[in-house]
Amino acid sequence: MSALRPYALRCDHRTTPLGIDDSAPLLSWRLASDRRGDDPVAYRVRVAERPEALADGGQPHWDSGRVDDSSAIGAGYAGPALRARTRYHWRVEVWSASDGAPADAVSWFETGLAMPSGAAGQSGKSVWRASWITHNPDPVDVVDAPTEGERALDDHGLAPCPLLRRVFSGSAVSPLVLARLYVSARGLYEVRLNGARVGDAELAPGWTDYTRRVQYQTYDVTDLVSQGENVLAATIADGWWSGFVGFEPRRAGAHYGTFPQFIAELQLTHADGSVSTVVTDDSWVTHTGAIRHADLLMGECHDLRRAVDGWELPGFDARDWSPARITDAEHRLLVASVDEPVRAMAEVRPVSVTRVSQDTHIVDFGQNLAGRVRLGVDGLAAGARVVVRHAEVLDENQRLYTANLRTAAATDVLIGDGRRHIDFEPKFTYHGFRYAEITGVPALSGDDVVAVALHSDTPWAGSFDCSDPDIRRLHACVEWGQRSNFVSVPTDCPQRDERLGWLADAQVFLPTAALNADVAAFFTKWLRDVDDARTPEGGFTNVAPRLAGVADEGAPGWGDAGVIVPWHLYRTYGDPRFLSRALDGMRGWVALIHRHNPDLIWRHRVGPHFSDWLAPGTPTPREVIATAYFAHSARLTALAADALGRHDVAEAHHRLAAAVRSAFVERFVTVEGPEGGESERRLRVAGDTQTGYLVSLAFGLLPDHLTEGAAKRLAELVEAAGPALQTGFVGVALAAPVLDAYGRADLAHALLRRTEVPSWLFPLRHGATTIWERWDGWTPDGGFRAPAMNSFNHYALGSIGEWLYRGVAGVDQAEDSVAYRRLRVRPEPGALTYASARYESARGTVAAGWRRRGDGLSLRVQVPPGATADVFVPTTDPGSVREAEAAPGDSGHAALIGTGPGHAHYRVASGAYHFTAAFSPAERPPAGLHEEDTP
Ligand code: BGC
Repeated sequence: MSALRPYALRCDHRTTPLGIDDSAPLLSWRLASDRRGDDPVAYRVRVAERPEALADGGQPHWDSGRVDDSSAIGAGYAGPALRARTRYHWRVEVWSASDGAPADAVSWFETGLAMPSGAAGQSGKSVWRASWITHNPDPVDVVDAPTEGERALDDHGLAPCPLLRRVFSGSAVSPLVLARLYVSARGLYEVRLNGARVGDAELAPGWTDYTRRVQYQTYDVTDLVSQGENVLAATIADGWWSGFVGFEPRRAGAHYGTFPQFIAELQLTHADGSVSTVVTDDSWVTHTGAIRHADLLMGECHDLRRAVDGWELPGFDARDWSPARITDAEHRLLVASVDEPVRAMAEVRPVSVTRVSQDTHIVDFGQNLAGRVRLGVDGLAAGARVVVRHAEVLDENQRLYTANLRTAAATDVLIGDGRRHIDFEPKFTYHGFRYAEITGVPALSGDDVVAVALHSDTPWAGSFDCSDPDIRRLHACVEWGQRSNFVSVPTDCPQRDERLGWLADAQVFLPTAALNADVAAFFTKWLRDVDDARTPEGGFTNVAPRLAGVADEGAPGWGDAGVIVPWHLYRTYGDPRFLSRALDGMRGWVALIHRHNPDLIWRHRVGPHFSDWLAPGTPTPREVIATAYFAHSARLTALAADALGRHDVAEAHHRLAAAVRSAFVERFVTVEGPEGGESERRLRVAGDTQTGYLVSLAFGLLPDHLTEGAAKRLAELVEAAGPALQTGFVGVALAAPVLDAYGRADLAHALLRRTEVPSWLFPLRHGATTIWERWDGWTPDGGFRAPAMNSFNHYALGSIGEWLYRGVAGVDQAEDSVAYRRLRVRPEPGALTYASARYESARGTVAAGWRRRGDGLSLRVQVPPGATADVFVPTTDPGSVREAEAAPGDSGHAALIGTGPGHAHYRVASGAYHFTAAFSPAERPPAGLHEEDTP
């Protein structure tokens, strides 16, 4: 039996997904082995409706046969058409080089209500029998006299949340074997079956451009259906569909629709094979209840005097409810969700509760996050109000600072009905906050209140640790920025009236995000939003999902995310569909820039220009940034086409990229000083800003003989500034990796350690628990920056997280490696005494960790099966380096390739390694530019 084993089986990057509608899903696995060099040589995948058919000699639905491919970590399903509403079991076997018998693992996936009949990714002819229904009369027309508690309460013009119910009877004849609920909303939904909550998705069905695509979810409700009377019940809310979204125009229902709607199809399969269906139609009845309004930006109000007790249970008398109204919405746009939903992912207890007046308390949860407050209240009199307001920070009087929320009221209200105890948690809103001000509760303790953190369920994949507590906290801030801003889409911020899927923020943060978590499914969904948002001219936009009715043309670095994101996902996960789905969009984007700028200098706007957004100091010339991105996008489009075997497309784009690079150098790069006197020659990129050099180097715009001059000037500028950065969103993501790549990891470390503005540690010194939008969102001298744009939870500047994994700990892959097939472990210790990172890559576990003790350093590396690693062991004496655990038979697995200034370079096979080396920093030669001696 082989030690090699497949694990973490995924279908389309999700574990046992229910209800997919992809006709050729990717079935993938990771590999583990406790032996060195235990690499896969072949795999076989079988798919069958019955698990027994997966055995040898069985009749599977699809059998890939043995495929000799040592790099494979997945197989695209290529069998007969998959049927809708069917569970498929699958089994992967993997052969290793060392053993004859394969190791195997099994999993399953289930198809959704409909499978596509044509166009890729979109459901074909509708098989939905359900109708879209809504409250009748329209919730907007509901004019109930306000209760005492509601009087003088700002409802922001929002209507109460409709309740919808339908009674059905379970079959008495044949027992139920399976029940599936397919459900969606134009708006948000919560469904209950016989009072029990269905699933644990929050803010479902998630945000898409609902004029293009509406995701539905599938739930297994077999255990919730009973034999007698059953009740299927839903509460629906405005959400992104008909609530306040973004900042413009400032009214609810401005973008997609004006009132929420619901669709559901419940399929009951009985033991005798019969299938019965309960669908949304006009036999449903509706009413309004306790939730008087619910909005993502404004907050939620529950008036318990309006609560309808027992409405979601059998036996309720609904005679005074109105029949639901069928709307004219189509089924055409309904697609199975491809991501995991938002879920309640953590609960954070208060670190303090401070009474600030007779019935008002300020609760500090100690962590800025996105989510909501759950509160236990005793003895709230009928009509009495509890008001929960949220803020990220406190002002100088220790009261909530809410000016930076702009028009987002972020206020939840509970109106009592005299009940003894109430647990209050809003359902259809979320806020970005660390503090809550709770009014209306005379006595409040930390046990009564908890913050519930919500975010898209992206399985956590990475961890980072190091000896400096400040840098550990910085990493935690980066993680919380990710948690708070991956809420159905990657948002800029979770608190103010914005929360949009800004493309540049996403592209600069993606390399960090994809090391922290498995974001493959999350970004699969968002890339559809990016594609759906494309302009009629073929360009990408600045935000996705598109806000219907808002014209939006991509800016340099923003629109380019439509190229950069799929490329990075492909490199990370090895799934070529990231590229095949995106290639048309990539080509369209590059062609559009080219069309507007035939002389190859991107100066004619495609969209607006945000430059190096929020950079302090001298702005980088716009044409420099724009043209750099033009070259970068053209090159990545060429690489994508190469990877897909589209060589004609690749060649044309390689040519274009080369031409743009030449135009860039000709137009923006000057070299002054005496010919031949290289050390005195001064290279300048127009504008002479850090970001100008960063984009030139990071995007490979300069011919080899100019890179050293550019790196030198970059380092001079960084040093002269502090050392400090003078970069905004664009430059900051590139800074540490570029400095490191050009031999100045020392400067990257100095930037990390810096505590003055601008730096990552300055906010931390002043209480930050997430990354700020601005380097100087608050300063002791100036106080808060202008509230119009001052978020304390923006992940863009958190793009440094990538370098913590790659540069500090050493978890990285070679530039031309895909899915961690060729690791590059080149840690830079700086002044730290240890650092380590562990990452669940698409191929298996990658880990690197080093520690200094006295004059020595030890480095442990883990390389997953099927991968190799180039390990650069940091040392002051390359001759001292040993591989500590080499067993006699292991000799072939680690080879010394060479030594260079400050390291010994080994190439190792898969497996675990432990290197030791002499390391006395005082003697350490300055790191050079990767040149190497042979041993
Ligand atoms: C957002 C940014 C975004 C920018 C575009 C801001 O309002 O918060 O994160 O990228 O606009 O310039």
